[in-house]
Amino acid sequence: MYLFFKLVKSMKKIILFIIYFFFISLESLIAQINIKQEFDFVAKQYEGMLQSHPDLKRFPQSTNPDDTPNDRKSDWWCSGFFGGSLWYIYEYTQDPKWKEAADKWSMAVAKEQYNTSTHDLGFMLYCPFGNGYRLTQDERYKEIMLTGAKSLSTRFDPKVGLIKSWDKFQGKYTYPVIIDNMMNLEFLFWAAKASGNKDYYKLSITHADNTLKNHFRTDNSSYHVVCYDTSGKVLAKKTHQGASDESAWARGQAWGLYGYTVMYRETKDKKYLNHAHKIAKYILTHPNLPADKIPYWDFSKVGEERDASAAAIISSALFELSQYSKGKQKNNYISSATQILESLTSSNYKADVGENNYFLLKHSTGHKPNKSEIDVPIVYADYYYLEALLRYSKLSISN
Ligand code: GLY
Repeated sequence: MYLFFKLVKSMKKIILFIIYFFFISLESLIAQINIKQEFDFVAKQYEGMLQSHPDLKRFPQSTNPDDTPNDRKSDWWCSGFFGGSLWYIYEYTQDPKWKEAADKWSMAVAKEQYNTSTHDLGFMLYCPFGNGYRLTQDERYKEIMLTGAKSLSTRFDPKVGLIKSWDKFQGKYTYPVIIDNMMNLEFLFWAAKASGNKDYYKLSITHADNTLKNHFRTDNSSYHVVCYDTSGKVLAKKTHQGASDESAWARGQAWGLYGYTVMYRETKDKKYLNHAHKIAKYILTHPNLPADKIPYWDFSKVGEERDASAAAIISSALFELSQYSKGKQKNNYISSATQILESLTSSNYKADVGENNYFLLKHSTGHKPNKSEIDVPIVYADYYYLEALLRYSKLSISN
């Protein structure tokens, strides 16, 4: 009898622990950001952005050193982020005025569907039209994306087994591939499903497998640029935007984390999931990751400028990765992603209304070695920040 009561007592403890772990502790991890308040801010700021960009020809990109807006044309790799962000605002608010603006700014990029000179069509087309199509099923968006996917796939040479990033690098390499290129595969997976063309699926897997083989170091950080010859042999491992060839450029690590998380989502192949976990571990346990979890622009550059864009990408990716994880690891991802969002929503990183050339976030670093876009707002930081906020809000609802 005594033993029976002891057993019941300890089972009670276990059950209470489970209840705490799955409901109370998870709730406390994810219940600290006021999404409505954030989107009220976002709406005010982006209303200003729309008013200051009336002609649909100059796309919001960042801020110049003299604090004037640095706008770009539609052929710049970032042209799709603004339209994509407007779709995210529409998704949250359901206000038709944002749908109208999102449609206009997406269609302003449409001509890039024929652009075969860039590997960035995933960013340029899938961020605006992919979100637009998901939310509206507008057939025009589908057609544009299918043409764009065809254009992008022309940059894949089966002999090399990768999508070529740039046509030339450092004057001598003719087949450079950057880790950022993992971000275009989500677009091709969509195109494979929408068109029934399995080549897009196979091509994405081949690209991801070769990147996995050649881009990563033994500590699971990644090189920025791997240069191939025309047979697929690796000639050199370099950097373009990082501090040095052997350092870990923060945004590159973020692109890798996001890219392999998507690879698992689309294929359910555990090797991609394991790899995403390894990248997450590299980032989250790095001794140089600051307490607020907003990385320096390069993991080797302690005390230098931060990169809020890398943080936003990492936060969004971790929210997704948490969905494929269990127990302590899942909670760790949710808690880290939430901590990043909390930092980004604090006044350290979030702009005041009407300031910051109407961008949402401050303190991103685009290309420090090139002395360009250092410690400024950048449009893709806003895009992934909005995506992370939405992922956070969906998580809060589902828990
Ligand atoms: N090359 C794209 C980036 O700056 O992340």
